[in-house]
Amino acid sequence: MPAACVIGLQWGDEAKGKLVDLLAPDHDCVVRYQGGANAGHTVVCGSEVYKLHHVPSGILHASVMNFITPGVVIEPTTLLGELEGLESRGIDPRKNLMISERAHLVMPWHLAEDQVMNQQSVQGENIGTTLRGIGPCYRDKVGRNFAVRAIDLIRPELPERIAQIVDAKNALLRGMSCDGSGTSAAPQLDAGEIAAKAQRWGEQLGPLIGDTTNRLLDELDAGKRLLMEGAQGSLLDIDHGTYPFVTSSNSSGVGISSGSGVPAKWIRHVIGVAKAYSTRVGGGPFPTELSCETGQKIRDLGREYGTTTGRPRRCGWFDAVAVRYTARLGGVDALALMMMDVLAHFDEIKVCVAYDIDGQRVEQFPCDAATLRRAKPICETHAGWKKDVTGARSLDDLPELAHRYLERIGQLIGVPVKVISVGPDREQTIFVDRQQLLA
Ligand code: GDP
Ligand code: IMO
Ligand code: MG
Repeated sequence: MPAACVIGLQWGDEAKGKLVDLLAPDHDCVVRYQGGANAGHTVVCGSEVYKLHHVPSGILHASVMNFITPGVVIEPTTLLGELEGLESRGIDPRKNLMISERAHLVMPWHLAEDQVMNQQSVQGENIGTTLRGIGPCYRDKVGRNFAVRAIDLIRPELPERIAQIVDAKNALLRGMSCDGSGTSAAPQLDAGEIAAKAQRWGEQLGPLIGDTTNRLLDELDAGKRLLMEGAQGSLLDIDHGTYPFVTSSNSSGVGISSGSGVPAKWIRHVIGVAKAYSTRVGGGPFPTELSCETGQKIRDLGREYGTTTGRPRRCGWFDAVAVRYTARLGGVDALALMMMDVLAHFDEIKVCVAYDIDGQRVEQFPCDAATLRRAKPICETHAGWKKDVTGARSLDDLPELAHRYLERIGQLIGVPVKVISVGPDREQTIFVDRQQLLA
C-alpha cells in the first residue's frame, strides 16, 4: 500500500489540518514527520474547534494510529497540554498516539535562545519566529553535544546531562544578551528545576514513547495505509525555501522520508494544499503582499491570525510562480485549493503569473531572498464570482467564474485542482473524485 502525503505549498497555514482530518478515515496511520509546536493545525467539526501543535490531525479518529516521528521536535509541556486538552473534551489520545524515542526535545534553553536570537535581524529584517525554540533545538540536534531526545527522558543520567548543558547554555545566553557595556539581561536557567520537570515529562510521556521507525516499516509490510502530515509550508523549507526567512526543517515534500523513516519508494500520492490567495506570518519577502485595504479585507474575511501565536498574517494574491515551484519540488499530483469562500467577496481577483525583476520578466522562482525582494508581481485579473459559496457541496454548486478560476490555477501550476474548500468545517469541502484521489 503506498503512502499519501499532505504538504503545504505556500508559507504555512494552508489548512493542512483540515484536509488531514478529512482523509484520515481512509488510512490506518497519520504521521507527523517534521516541525514542532510552531505548527498550529486547525480541525473544525461543527461547533468544536481543535488546534493541534504536535499531535497529528488524525487524532479525532479512534481507528487511526497517530505517529510523531524522529524528524519532529517536541516541547513536552506543550504536548502534555495538548493531550490534556483533548482528554478534557472526551478524546483519549493516549490510545492511538506513539512518539518516537528518536525525536528531539525542545528544552527550556531552546525557548530562551529563540527569544534572544529573535531580537537580531538578518538581511535587515527580523525572521519573526514563533518563539517555540524550533531553530535552537534543530541546531543542537545537528550539533549533537547538547541534544536531548525523547528516549533520554527515561535514562537515569539525564539530570547530570542537564546540569552540564545548563552551565554551558547560561554562559551562552549571557554572551548573546550582552549589551556592550558588559552587563547582560539574559534569562538564567536552573538545572535542578529543569531536571525535576524532565522527570515528570518522562513519567507522563514514557508510556507513549517507542520505536516509530520500525513500527511504521511493519505497518507498511502489513499493507497498512499511511497518511503523512506536513507542517509549515514548502516556501519555509530550510534548504529550498526563502532562506533565511524559513523554518529549520525540510517542510517541503523532500522532508517526508528523512523525517519519518518511511522509504521514498512508498510515497505515491502527494496532495499539495494552497489557499486561493497567499498569506505569510513573520518576516521575509512576499511579492504579492497587499499592504492596503484589500489585504486587510482578505485578513478579516479569512480570519487570518496565527493559530500558534495569534499574529496577524500578511495577505496577498495567489502567487502561481511560487506555487508552481513548490508543486514541482514536492512532486505534487493533486492540488487542494482552500478558502474559496473568502474570494467570493471581491469584484476582481488577481493572480501573479510572473515577476518583474530589474526590468526582466521572470517565471522561475528565484533562489535568493534578496532577489525575491525585488520581484514585482505581474498579474492577470479575473472577474470575481460574487456569490456565497459556503453552502456549495458539489462542483455543480460553484458559479461558472469560480470554475474558471480553479481551472486557471490548475493550468498555471501544471497540476489539477482535486479538492476545493469553501469554509472551515469538514462538510465545506468538495472532492472532484475522492476515490481517484487516493487510488
Ligand atoms: P494549517 O496550519 O495548514 O493546518 O492551517 P491553520 O489551521 O493554521 O489555518 C487555516 C485556517 O483556515 C483555520 O482556522 C481553518 O479552520 C480555516 N479554514 C480551513 N479551510 C477553510 C476554508 O475553506 N475557508 C475558510 N474561511 N476558512 C478555512
Ligand atoms: P503550520 O504548520 C505559518 C514561520 C514563522 C517564521 C518562520 C520561522 O501551522 O502551517 P520558527 O518558529 O519555525 O523558527 O519560525 O516560520 N512559521 C510558520 N508560519 N505556519 C506555520 O506552521 C509556521 N511555522 C513556522 O512565522 O516566519
Ligand atoms: Mg497553521
